[in-house]
Amino acid sequence: MSFSRIRDQFEKHVIANYARFPLCVARGEGSRVWDVEGREYLDLFPGWGVAGLGHCHPAVAEAIARQAGKLIHVANHYYCEEQGEFGEILSRRCGGRRVFFCNSGAEANEGAIKLARLVGQPRHKIIAMRNSFHGRTFGAISATGQAEYQRGFTPVVPGFSHAEVNDLASVEALLDSQTCAIMIEPVQGEAGVVAAAPAFLASLRKICDERGLLLIFDEVQTAPCRLGEWFGHQYFKVEPDLVATAKSIAGGMPTAAFLARPEVAEFLKPGTHASTFGGHSLGCAAGIAAFKAMEEERVMDNIRTLGSWLDDRLGTLVGDECGVKAIRRVGFMIGVELAHPGAALVDDCREHGLLVNCTHRNIIRLLPAFNIEKPLLERGLEILAACLKREGWRRG
Ligand SMILES: Cc1ncc(COP(=O)(O)O)c(C=O)c1O
Repeated sequence: MSFSRIRDQFEKHVIANYARFPLCVARGEGSRVWDVEGREYLDLFPGWGVAGLGHCHPAVAEAIARQAGKLIHVANHYYCEEQGEFGEILSRRCGGRRVFFCNSGAEANEGAIKLARLVGQPRHKIIAMRNSFHGRTFGAISATGQAEYQRGFTPVVPGFSHAEVNDLASVEALLDSQTCAIMIEPVQGEAGVVAAAPAFLASLRKICDERGLLLIFDEVQTAPCRLGEWFGHQYFKVEPDLVATAKSIAGGMPTAAFLARPEVAEFLKPGTHASTFGGHSLGCAAGIAAFKAMEEERVMDNIRTLGSWLDDRLGTLVGDECGVKAIRRVGFMIGVELAHPGAALVDDCREHGLLVNCTHRNIIRLLPAFNIEKPLLERGLEILAACLKREGWRRG
């Protein structure tokens, strides 16, 4: 079908709540995708971070096909072999925490928020961070520390307040007898790759221990593998009570989870929380295959090995010639802070065969697949550098 026919269908039938680029992705393989006309693109922002193993990893595709021929979905009042096995894998990689399966990052955070309130009763307040992003459900937008995501939806869920990342005094100022939890992304992705300092996270842990609060890490972007460790908190060497994860945990399937320390997990009893699709057989089969592939292909070694090369290469972009103010990188989360708005640059990159994201108007965000090969990454950075050097985007 032609692109114009596809666009017509969207215009007539699909709610226009996404600003879509004029590109219809028809096929993907690794870090490359092709549009309906067969044009190839290098994808350095695959699926908003979902395609950690790249598009259509063969082992994941094979696991999905095999499982689809066997059983697609089982209701959660029965046992399901794949859910148990994937639960064991996630739990093993996340310090023995127990798993609740759901379908999206927002839902994982929503569940973690509910559990924190359940454990903390009658305390109900949660301190989250300014500039954070936790998703679009009501609990998640209430935790999100950016007014624009709440506009039009107020009043949001009460009890959330927002401190500044890396400013302990701003957290302490918000603590009171009603506080039950502190919630943070160890690296804020949507805010443009802003990392918490390890000492700040360690201090949050200490405050939580001293005051009997739960520490919630939103690891929807930072886990699995993204920072070169299975989970982001392992990179920062701080142990949260609750961890939300989604995006790339199941090779591209809409599978997500929160994980809780066993003493915390115990508070969830039959009837307290549920999800019809959570722990879906297809998603779990894909997740098992994805974790096996991440381990066998040593993707975390790839991320760590390319780190200093990336810093050197990205460092050459900083300055007036490219209009780049700063680079921020943790593992394979990369933010290129521009001196001007980046929308026109994203268009220019796409026209030159490179897919990237722009967040907060002027931060180019790259979330490459964990298994991307150096020559492909190098080619992507070459296209980015060439586009940055052209003047046009700076007027956009
Ligand atoms: C840190 C973080 N939390 C939560 C979410 C929401 O995830 P989802 O869109 O799967 O609901 C996102 C999405 O980008 C995210 O980056």
